[in-house]
Amino acid sequence: MSIIKLHDKYFRTYISEEKIAAVTKKLVKQVSKDCKNENPIFIGILNGCFMFVADFVRQYKYNCEVSFVKLASYEGTNSTGKIKQLVGINENLEGRTVVILEDIIDTGNTLQEIYEIFKDKKLKQLKIATLFFKPDVFKKELAIDYIGLSIPDEFIVGYGLDYDGLGRNLPSIYQLTSKPKVKNILLFGPPGVGKGTQADILKEKYNLVHISTGDVFRKHMKKETKLGKLAKSYIDKGNLVPDDVTIKMLKSVVNKVSHSNGIIFDGFPRTKEQAIALDEFLEENGETIGGMITIEVPTNLLIARLLERGKTSGRADDQDEHKILNRFNEYFTKTEILKDYYQAQNKYFGVDGVGDISEITKRLSDVFDKL
Ligand code: IMP
Ligand code: MG
Repeated sequence: MSIIKLHDKYFRTYISEEKIAAVTKKLVKQVSKDCKNENPIFIGILNGCFMFVADFVRQYKYNCEVSFVKLASYEGTNSTGKIKQLVGINENLEGRTVVILEDIIDTGNTLQEIYEIFKDKKLKQLKIATLFFKPDVFKKELAIDYIGLSIPDEFIVGYGLDYDGLGRNLPSIYQLTSKPKVKNILLFGPPGVGKGTQADILKEKYNLVHISTGDVFRKHMKKETKLGKLAKSYIDKGNLVPDDVTIKMLKSVVNKVSHSNGIIFDGFPRTKEQAIALDEFLEENGETIGGMITIEVPTNLLIARLLERGKTSGRADDQDEHKILNRFNEYFTKTEILKDYYQAQNKYFGVDGVGDISEITKRLSDVFDKL
């Protein structure tokens, strides 16, 4: 599952493109059966219908015409009950079969207006097809001839449907959801395992802030700040920066982003002292660690990866096998024990880190979604 934000609201994945395609196919089949000899005029109700109409008529194999009416009733996520006709009908419809193509029927106010509009047009017949239908809110005694999918009374966006103008371009349907709980996640694993790469992808996907202790230190080193100079003396040798320095530095970074949806920590904590300190200062902000996820890759693969990265990263600690081995040593003696610390709180997860970047993202997302 993934969550997106449109304006002030959050939406979660709900109906896939494949599902929409299957429902559309079913509707095309039903309408074709009834209308193949009618040369029907399909009339889409804009704006929401545009994707549905395009996909529907593309699959309709018999003669037909296509036109649109533009109606609007919604403001934000609420039906106003007042329908405005923004673009009307120009064609002569006398004696014709008209099939209305609606993206969604909710209260039925729009549908009632549609029946009004076509009442005196001397049609042969008027049929209504809707991709989505909300039976729990439908309050009218009006016929709906073809219903794609009945859904509960929850606001949806995507596939033409919008929330205050946004979301129409999404190829699948998303459902309104509550603001996600803050997710603070520790991304773990020995050097070179792909924490940085994955954190960059996951922070976009889950709207999180990525804090990499290494990156923060390197920024200071580049600017040659006091902290940077101090950190450099440790990092260049492949040693850990002392806890008190790291913790103080991290605390100030975390406090700056305390209004975010959550943080992905990459490279912190690295010792039990840091883990305890982290718990303490998150608690001060009313937060906690959601979980620790370790990306697991065999060590021999990692050394090769780091040496390769060292050719382009410019990082002194990537270029020399001794320094690399020292970093592994630091990891396995001081950091890996954190597994026990988080396991004791039921917050530890291991993820296989061998494979394509996207495969690993998928495995990590499965854990994120559970948290
Ligand atoms: P009704 O008049 O209440 O039946 O609403 C019909 C119109 O409201 C649809 O054509 C949509 O434009 C809009 N609408 C209803 N439900 C939703 C929703 O869940 N998401 C987005 N638009 C909706
Ligand atoms: Mg509509």
